[in-house]
Amino acid sequence: MTATENDARAGTVRTFPSGFLWGAASSAYQIEGAAAQDGRGPSVWDTFSHTPGTVRGGDTGDIACDFYHRAEEDLDLMASLGLASFRFSVSWPRVQPAGAGAINRRGLDFYRSLVEGLLARDILPAITLYHWDLPQALEDLGGWANRDTAERFADYAEIMAEAIGECDCMWITLNEPQVVANQGYRNGTHAPGLRDDALAAATTHHLMLAHGLALARLRTALPAARVGITLDIHPIRAADAQAQDAAIVTDAEQNRIWIDPVIHGRYPARAREQLLPPPELILDGDMELICARTDFLGLNYYSPHFVRLGDSSALRRDESAIPGRPGVILYKPDEVMLTSMGWSIEPSGLHETLVTLAAETSPGLPIYVTENGCAAEDYVDPDGQVNDLERIEYIHGHLEAAWRAIQDGVPLAGYFYWSLHDNFEWAWGYQKRFGLLFVDYGTQQRIPKRSAHVYSQIARSNELPPLDAVLGESADARAGRAS
Ligand code: FCB
Repeated sequence: MTATENDARAGTVRTFPSGFLWGAASSAYQIEGAAAQDGRGPSVWDTFSHTPGTVRGGDTGDIACDFYHRAEEDLDLMASLGLASFRFSVSWPRVQPAGAGAINRRGLDFYRSLVEGLLARDILPAITLYHWDLPQALEDLGGWANRDTAERFADYAEIMAEAIGECDCMWITLNEPQVVANQGYRNGTHAPGLRDDALAAATTHHLMLAHGLALARLRTALPAARVGITLDIHPIRAADAQAQDAAIVTDAEQNRIWIDPVIHGRYPARAREQLLPPPELILDGDMELICARTDFLGLNYYSPHFVRLGDSSALRRDESAIPGRPGVILYKPDEVMLTSMGWSIEPSGLHETLVTLAAETSPGLPIYVTENGCAAEDYVDPDGQVNDLERIEYIHGHLEAAWRAIQDGVPLAGYFYWSLHDNFEWAWGYQKRFGLLFVDYGTQQRIPKRSAHVYSQIARSNELPPLDAVLGESADARAGRAS
C-alpha cells in the first residue's frame, strides 16, 4: 500500500471546495421505458435492441426502470439522499419523433415537469441533449454519417432551449461521441450496428459539428445558460518503451480525436488517416464552431487502457486486437483489479486525466466528472440490504483521486456518480448493475444500496471520510474476513 492509499484508508478527512456539486447521472434510453408511449418515435436503440443477437439475453429498453412513470418517486428518493444535481438525458425521439419537423408536446411536457420537479427539490438539472438514442427516421437518411443530422440536432437543441427556458441548469450537448463513432459505426457493437470506417470517420466530424451548432443555438436562445460537452477520456498506458509510440497513436485515436477539435479546433495528426474525417467533409467555419468557448467540460472516466506490442493473432485472456493495427494489443495487467465489467480499477488515472485536461483548457474552466462508477455483483441479502462494499471502495478511491486533483489546482467543480439506478447497460442489457439504487426489475422496487447511504453522507457533508470510517471497520478486520 502506498502512503497515499494508507492515508485514504485510515487517515484524514478530505474536504471538498464549498459549492462542489454532488450528483448522480443517467440517460433516457437506459431508464425511461415507455418506449412507444405518448407519441415517442423509435430510436436506433429500439431497432438495435429488438434485433436478435445484439443485446445480451434479448433485453430491450421497452420498460427499463419505468422512470417515465416513476419520476416523481425517484425525485423524492434523490432528495432524500441529498443529491445536489441529477444528470439525465432527453430522448430526442420523444420530443421530435422523426428527428425533424413535428414536435411531440407530451414529450416536452415530460421534460418540463422533470426540470420543475428537480428545481422544486433544489436539485440542479444537468440536461444532456444526446445520449445515443438517435431518431430512427434520421438513421434511415444516413444517421450521423450524413451532415444534415448535425443541422437537425441543432434545431432540436433550440426546441429544448425554448421549452425549458432560462433556469439554474447545466446543458450538455453530447455524451461520449467516441462511443457513437466507434461502437455504433465502426465496430457495430452498439446501435446502429454498422461496421464501416468511412461512415465512422464522417460520423466523428458530424458529431463534433452537431456539438458546435447546438452550442451556438443554445447561446442565442438562452444567453445565461451554462453549456458544455461530455467526453470519455482515459490514459493510454504503454507496457514498455517499445509500445510507447503505439500508445501515442492509440491516445490520438481514442482521446485526442475529441479533445483536440473541442479545445484546439483541429484533429490530431497522429491518428491513422482512415479514422480522421476526410478534408472534403470539413467545411469552412466548421472547426471555429466546434472549438467555440464552452462554460465547462464534462469528463466521463472509468479506467485506463493498456497497450503492448505482440502477435495480434495470439491473444491472451482479456486482450483484444486493434482493427487495422497488427502487432498492437489492448491488454489488462495482471496486478490491476477489474470490475464486473472487466474494466481495470485505477483511480490514479482519474487524477492524471483531470490534470492533463486542466493544463489544456482555458485557465479556470470548470471541469465536472459527469460519470464515474462501477458495476458489481449486487444482490439483496436475506435482510433486504444490498451490501455493495466493492462499489464503496471504488467511489472512495476515485473521490480521493478527484480531491487530490483539486489540491493540484484542477478547477474540478462537481462529480456525478454513474448511475442513480441499475439500468439497461446497452449491449449488456440488465445484467450489469451500476446503480446506487438497486432495481428489482420484476416489481420496479428501488432499494438504496449501502453505497447510496455512503454517497449521501459524503454529498451532505462535502467531505470524504477515511475509507475505514466509511466501511465501519478497520482494514485489518476486512482483510481477515476476506481470507
Ligand atoms: C458510459 C455511458 C453510460 C454507461 C456507462 C457505464 O460509457 O455513457 O451510458 O453505459 O458507460
